Amino acid sequence: MTMSVTRIRKNIQDLSLWAVLAQDLYTLQGQLLLAKGTVLKPYLVDKLMASGITEVYLEESREQESPAERQKSKLEGAFRVGQVIVSDVIEQVRDGRPINSDDLKEAVEILYPEVIASTNIFTQLLKLRSKDAYTAQHSIAVGAIGVKICQLMGLAEDKAKMVGMAGVMHDIGKVRLPDAVLNKPYDLNSQEWEQMKKHPQYGYEILKTMKDIAPEIQLAVLQHHERLDGSGYPLGFTAEKIHLFSRILAVSDSFDAMTTERVYHPPRSIFEASKELMAQAYRNQLDIKIVIRFVDYLLDMSPGQKVLLNTGEIAEVILPNKAEPTRPLVQVGEVFFNLEHTRDLWIDSLITS
Ligand SMILES: [Fe+2]
Repeated sequence: MTMSVTRIRKNIQDLSLWAVLAQDLYTLQGQLLLAKGTVLKPYLVDKLMASGITEVYLEESREQESPAERQKSKLEGAFRVGQVIVSDVIEQVRDGRPINSDDLKEAVEILYPEVIASTNIFTQLLKLRSKDAYTAQHSIAVGAIGVKICQLMGLAEDKAKMVGMAGVMHDIGKVRLPDAVLNKPYDLNSQEWEQMKKHPQYGYEILKTMKDIAPEIQLAVLQHHERLDGSGYPLGFTAEKIHLFSRILAVSDSFDAMTTERVYHPPRSIFEASKELMAQAYRNQLDIKIVIRFVDYLLDMSPGQKVLLNTGEIAEVILPNKAEPTRPLVQVGEVFFNLEHTRDLWIDSLITS
């Protein structure tokens, strides 16, 4: 079954928060009030009421979805809400306004159950990405993957939500970087790189000004680029000083950056990303216990995944290879190839649609 979106008419009194507007709304004077596609945050509902609007059309998913599709659309809803909230927070910090931590907590509350219920978070997140709004999408994805790692490691809900919050906020300090550094995602000269390395410290300082943010969350934001061997930044801490949440965030952040398309690199497949995460764990940069749990999960989810081989053929992953993640057993038509032994064949990219 396919999911489609329909319009439903709703009385403004019965609006559920975070619903998506299915029409442009105008004031009596003909000025655009809210555009189609706007997520109705609480203050926007107040704005509608104040404008005397009594009914609106909203987008609503049709009921005849399969359970998997329903879960996917709920995750998508949570992802979109998170994106709106993070974009708002970025603007608040940029304008020097105080951040509303309630909105952020709400984003994590909405995201948490969907991430826990999702079986294949990576593939689902990949389908929700668009080329715009990288920062907000990356922030939400790092939070969501962080929550999934906590679940894989058996951490309690309150801890997983702290990691989710830290993930959503991990790069907020970049708001304080000069545009010249921010808009230059690669090829930074040494002076620019020194500035870039301050963003975790800036993020920590921003979070310290917010009330009701647990110290562990502040610490995880400060330490998300620290590495166990002391090679990270901003403080070059080694393993004994790096908190578990910071280690989880380091894996989640690295993985999401690797698998997302950027101007300076194409998206890496889960197989290449797994290999790279393992390599960084072997170098004692990332925590090997966290990496093994996460890579196991990614590879366990991979059978059935369609991939493009270097020959241009489409293959399906049949059996993952945990010793050499980029070389699983695959099937092309009726033929099986064990990529571990067929070295002239390799996976070029994932087929995600
Ligand atoms: Fe960062």
